[in-house]
Amino acid sequence: MADTIPLCCFLSFVLLTTTFISLSQSQLDDQATMEALQKELSVSDWDPKQPNFCTWRGVICTSNQSVQELNLSHRGLRGNVTLVSQLKSLKKLDLSSNSFKGSIPSSIGGLVALEFLDLSMNHFEGLIPSSFGGLSSLISLNLSNNFLSGAIPEELKILESLQELQLSGNNLTGSIPDWVGNFASLKVFSAYENGLTGVIPENLGSVSNLEVLNLHSNQLEGEIPVSIFKSGKLQVLILTVNGLNGSIPDSVGNCKGLSNLRIGNNRLTGRLPTSIGDVSSLTYFEADNNNLSGEIVEEFALCSNLTLLNLASNWLTGTVPDKLGDLKNLQELIVSDNGLSGEFPKSILRCRNLSKLDFSYNNFNGSLPDNICNMSRLQFLVLDHNSFDGFIPSGIGSCIKLLELQMGSNYFTGAIPPEIGKIRNLQIALNLSFNQLQGALPRELGKLDKLVSLDLSNNQISGTIPQEIKGMMSLIEVNFSNNRLTGSIPAFGPFQKSPQTSFIGNSELCGDPLGSACHPNYGSYYYGLDHHKVSYKVVLAVVGSGMTVFAVVFLVVGLFMLREKQEKEAKAKVEIQEIIEPPQILVANVFVESLRQAVDFDTCVKATLKEENKVSNGTFSTSFKAVMPSGLVISIKKLKSVDRTVTCHQNKMIRELERLSNLTHTNLLRPIGYVIYDDVALLLHRYMSNGTLLQLIHDVGPAMKEPNWPLRLLIAINVAEGLAFLHQIATIHLDVCSGNIYLDSNFNALLGEIEISKLLDPSKGTASISAVAGSFGYIPPEYAYTMQVTVPGNVYSFGVVLLEILTSKLPTDECFGEGVDLVKWVHGASTRGETPEQIMDATLSTISFAWRKQMLAVLKVAMLCTDPTPAKRPKMKTVIEMLKEAKDS
Ligand SMILES: *[C@@H]1O[C@H](CO)[C@@H](O)[C@H](O)[C@H]1NC(C)=O
Ligand SMILES: *[C@@H]1O[C@H](CO)[C@@H](O)[C@H](O)[C@H]1NC(C)=O
Ligand SMILES: *[C@@H]1O[C@H](CO)[C@@H](O)[C@H](O)[C@H]1NC(C)=O
Ligand SMILES: *[C@@H]1O[C@H](CO)[C@@H](O)[C@H](O)[C@H]1NC(C)=O
Ligand SMILES: *[C@@H]1O[C@H](CO)[C@@H](O)[C@H](O)[C@H]1NC(C)=O
Ligand SMILES: *[C@@H]1O[C@H](CO)[C@@H](O)[C@H](O)[C@H]1NC(C)=O
Ligand SMILES: *[C@@H]1O[C@H](CO)[C@@H](O)[C@H](O)[C@H]1NC(C)=O
Ligand SMILES: *[C@@H]1O[C@H](CO)[C@@H](O)[C@H](O)[C@H]1NC(C)=O
Ligand SMILES: *[C@@H]1O[C@H](CO)[C@@H](O)[C@H](O)[C@H]1NC(C)=O
Repeated sequence: MADTIPLCCFLSFVLLTTTFISLSQSQLDDQATMEALQKELSVSDWDPKQPNFCTWRGVICTSNQSVQELNLSHRGLRGNVTLVSQLKSLKKLDLSSNSFKGSIPSSIGGLVALEFLDLSMNHFEGLIPSSFGGLSSLISLNLSNNFLSGAIPEELKILESLQELQLSGNNLTGSIPDWVGNFASLKVFSAYENGLTGVIPENLGSVSNLEVLNLHSNQLEGEIPVSIFKSGKLQVLILTVNGLNGSIPDSVGNCKGLSNLRIGNNRLTGRLPTSIGDVSSLTYFEADNNNLSGEIVEEFALCSNLTLLNLASNWLTGTVPDKLGDLKNLQELIVSDNGLSGEFPKSILRCRNLSKLDFSYNNFNGSLPDNICNMSRLQFLVLDHNSFDGFIPSGIGSCIKLLELQMGSNYFTGAIPPEIGKIRNLQIALNLSFNQLQGALPRELGKLDKLVSLDLSNNQISGTIPQEIKGMMSLIEVNFSNNRLTGSIPAFGPFQKSPQTSFIGNSELCGDPLGSACHPNYGSYYYGLDHHKVSYKVVLAVVGSGMTVFAVVFLVVGLFMLREKQEKEAKAKVEIQEIIEPPQILVANVFVESLRQAVDFDTCVKATLKEENKVSNGTFSTSFKAVMPSGLVISIKKLKSVDRTVTCHQNKMIRELERLSNLTHTNLLRPIGYVIYDDVALLLHRYMSNGTLLQLIHDVGPAMKEPNWPLRLLIAINVAEGLAFLHQIATIHLDVCSGNIYLDSNFNALLGEIEISKLLDPSKGTASISAVAGSFGYIPPEYAYTMQVTVPGNVYSFGVVLLEILTSKLPTDECFGEGVDLVKWVHGASTRGETPEQIMDATLSTISFAWRKQMLAVLKVAMLCTDPTPAKRPKMKTVIEMLKEAKDS
């Protein structure tokens, strides 16, 4: 016994000293670790000469000088972060929004004191380390927006203190483990945008106060578990774009605080629960593209904050409940593509905040109320494909904010009310096709000078097309076919550019677009399709040379038109011949070896003589789509008015084309060949199957129904890279706009029209009447006095493209107010007391916090690019960096 006492004492002494030594060692260790970390990551604002690392930015120490919190978020860092796992006292570690790569160091799992770990918005890849099971104190884990793959590891099952678990925006697979449902403190669980499969655990939320559940864009199946509504604390539920089935649980009514409920694009069945009326905070309810049936429940009317109700593409029947008229805050009511019936619900007129009303593709009938524009904020009135009848109410003229009016495929009768001309904002489309409208076209249509698409086809409209229609200056698409119109088609640009099909089926209509001569009494002369026509209208020349001096002269020689007309008559016969027999090709070539056999030059020429092949009209050229006998589809650009350039500078032009075709940048649309005949130059390009950015943003095609912010951001980065490359080789682009940004089959963006700055010979400028530097809305303000497109000018135009991407609005739009374009509207937002949320496209920014954050960052870049002072605008190289940072943020 006696021996043991000293041994015991000795042991305790040893224990004490080692404890003491190891503590001071840990302190020393942190010092060494922090110094090593400073070196490894080159943290710029950590001064190695300042010995007390506890004062370094983002570092918080305990009273005994060990690092307790390390916050390195948003510092542009890369390198090996393994060292942080030696900071054993860490409670909070935030490495988010940097450029860290490789797998997550498994040694981080040894930080047993860690309560908060944020590694989001980096490039981490590989699996989630199973060692994270050792982080038993963890309260918050954020691994979102990396490239992590594999399943959620079983080892995490013991992290029972977790309150927030964020795994979204990775490539995780497998199912959501059942044990997530056992986390008694879980408040936030988000794992959207992954490849998760299987069912949502049926006990999820049963033991905790779940507030946010966001699992959209996975491949989840099975039913929405009742458990998530159990505690009644749910505020946000987003399950869109999965394969969920079953019905919407009645217990949703437990959640009074649920404001955001999005379950669209699933396979949900059954009826809408009446308990929805108990969800008093409900603001967004989106359940479109499911298989819901039964009626729209009137209990929605109890949700007084309801702003958006989207029930489109389901199997709903019955009428729109009158009670919905109580929804004072309702802004969008979308019930298209269901089996709804009954008359237009007049009570809806009481929803004064309504901006979008979509009843299309249902069985609504009866006539429209005359006071339909009681909803004075209405921007979209979509009533097509129903059985509405009666007159189009003259009261429609009071919808002064309307951008789009769709009333096609109904049974409307009577004449088009002249009041329609009062809707001066009408812009996207006016479609009254497939009705039973009669009478003459009102002259007032000509007042719709913003309207892009007009479809009055398949009615019984009679009389002549009034000359006043020429006031519709923005018209691109027009369809008057299958009516009873008579007389000559007015000579008007948009009509001349329209295909024959826009006018056919009016037996007494004649004129240019129909290729039928009018009786002289109609006061018009025949002139056929020809390439000379444009040459007197538009003459282009580029003045100056080098890096800074590029001005495009856009010349409209109206005076010559009379003489030309007389000549036309004499030439008409010859020209008919020309259409049948294509003109003699002077020179032609294909630069790309592998495509040589596949391109047939005669087919190219013929394709550009047919109006139905026309794809678009640019500032400098007209585009056609052509199918070669080999099956290859190419895009052909017919340069407008290059007569002088082509005939006098043919060789120089060919040299330039060849040089451009050799540019190796993937984000530039390079020519693959050319055909020159007479004074016409055709430039051949690969066909871009996904059209242009303009179409992507502004044409709501079925393919783009899905809001896709990441795609838009990638497009912006692609274009920035193409433009930066041009600047690097001392080339200024003359027409940066969304219509010149092409999307290939993989949605890679390519900047087009790069030839223009090189092809049009600078020294041959003729007298200028007006000068245009690209497309309206994109022209930098300094152009008004410099008349030169410069590098900063390109940056400005690119900034406008960014704003389009962010707002989904066109660069010029009457809704911005008198003399205000998109740039001024955005820059004026803060003065008007508007938040960025009111500027950005809400269908994108409200999808996820990550998207919103990126959009805010891109908005900042756009503001810099569109600074009124050219010198303050960033270089394109800097723009690329900022956009990439936004993407990674
Ligand atoms: C140092 O601080 C840590 C964390 O607060 C604590 O666990 C440890 O006991 C402290 N050690 C000393 C010697 O004060
Ligand atoms: C880290 O710092 C950033 C600001 O640089 C801040 O927004 C963030 O909330 C901090 N993280 C933590 C975990 O405190
Ligand atoms: C980081 O450093 C550790 C050693 O400190 C090493 O084991 C690991 O492989 C490194 N990781 C990478 C991605 O280089
Ligand atoms: C990561 O998630 C945590 C917990 O939900 C949150 O506090 C943090 O802000 C997120 N990080 C980023 C960069 O959004
Ligand atoms: C995601 O994972 C799947 C297979 O697990 C793989 O085919 C795919 O390329 C990955 N995607 C990304 C973006 O890493
Ligand atoms: C839902 O889908 C699963 C398969 O994913 C199936 O087993 C189940 O019967 C379906 N439930 C309903 C209500 O259709
Ligand atoms: C409606 O929204 C307002 C403002 O967000 C809020 O103060 C109010 O409590 C909400 N009403 C209900 C019933 O939740
Ligand atoms: C949706 O419902 C319709 C009719 O109720 C049915 O024909 C269809 O098969 C259903 N689709 C799915 C995916 O359940
Ligand atoms: C429109 O909504 C606002 C709140 O967003 C509300 O204050 C206002 O009363 C509503 N307008 C009408 C006419 O109901």
